[in-house]
Amino acid sequence: MPEMQKLLLEGKSKRLYLTDDPAQLILYFKDDAMAYHGLKRGRIVGKGEVNNAICEHLFTMLAKEGVENHYIRRLDDTSSLIRHVQMIPVVVTVRNFAAGSLCKRLRCPEGTPMVPTVIEYNLKTADFEDPLINISHIIAMHIATREEVDRMNETALRVNEILSRCMREIGIELIDFKLEFGRDKGKVIVADEISPDTARFWDANTREPMDIDRFRNDLGNVEQGYREILRRLMGTEE
Ligand code: C5P
Repeated sequence: MPEMQKLLLEGKSKRLYLTDDPAQLILYFKDDAMAYHGLKRGRIVGKGEVNNAICEHLFTMLAKEGVENHYIRRLDDTSSLIRHVQMIPVVVTVRNFAAGSLCKRLRCPEGTPMVPTVIEYNLKTADFEDPLINISHIIAMHIATREEVDRMNETALRVNEILSRCMREIGIELIDFKLEFGRDKGKVIVADEISPDTARFWDANTREPMDIDRFRNDLGNVEQGYREILRRLMGTEE
């Protein structure tokens, strides 16, 4: 068991700890939830455990499909061992249907199909405002090279293919999700998390959100939405 050492950083829903191995970190998932750039805060009971299990499932599946990522293994109910990568401060959002900030920004009705799939980039900032940027900004500001941007794009679309298919099989529509990437020995790999905190998952029949939007928009049954995604992923659907 790797030894948890000093806290490296704390985010809205996770903590990162150094370990006795400089190449590995421990990712701890919190129950805390935050929305609207920190204006709304709360706690979703059991979220840390569910997100840890969902990440284990999805990152393991992606690795099997050849998508390199930072995930090593689950350690306990709420924490996992990951590779210590150098994070690229760009949030890559993949959108199959319009929702959230895209609807507000472009006055587009929620649920409008995005064909071909839309990819957006935001610059990660300390104040959670994360302004929208484009590829030329990323390259001109030396945030990432053109090759790295190409790799992030290709990987994001491949992750979208794999996740959309996996979710459709369990009656869930993948509306959108965000990814973050890191450099591991010079190679760009998927990092951070993929969970109902960072993706929109709608029940395919009812079109009801099962994700963090239940918290953001006070829809109730927040914990149930998260648990239902995990239950279906684990193949325990009745
Ligand atoms: O809010 P917006 O529509 O831009 O979000 C796009 C996707 O990125 C959603 O799945 C949302 O949950 C996720 N997201 C995130 N963290 C943020 C902003 C958005 O995980 N700070």
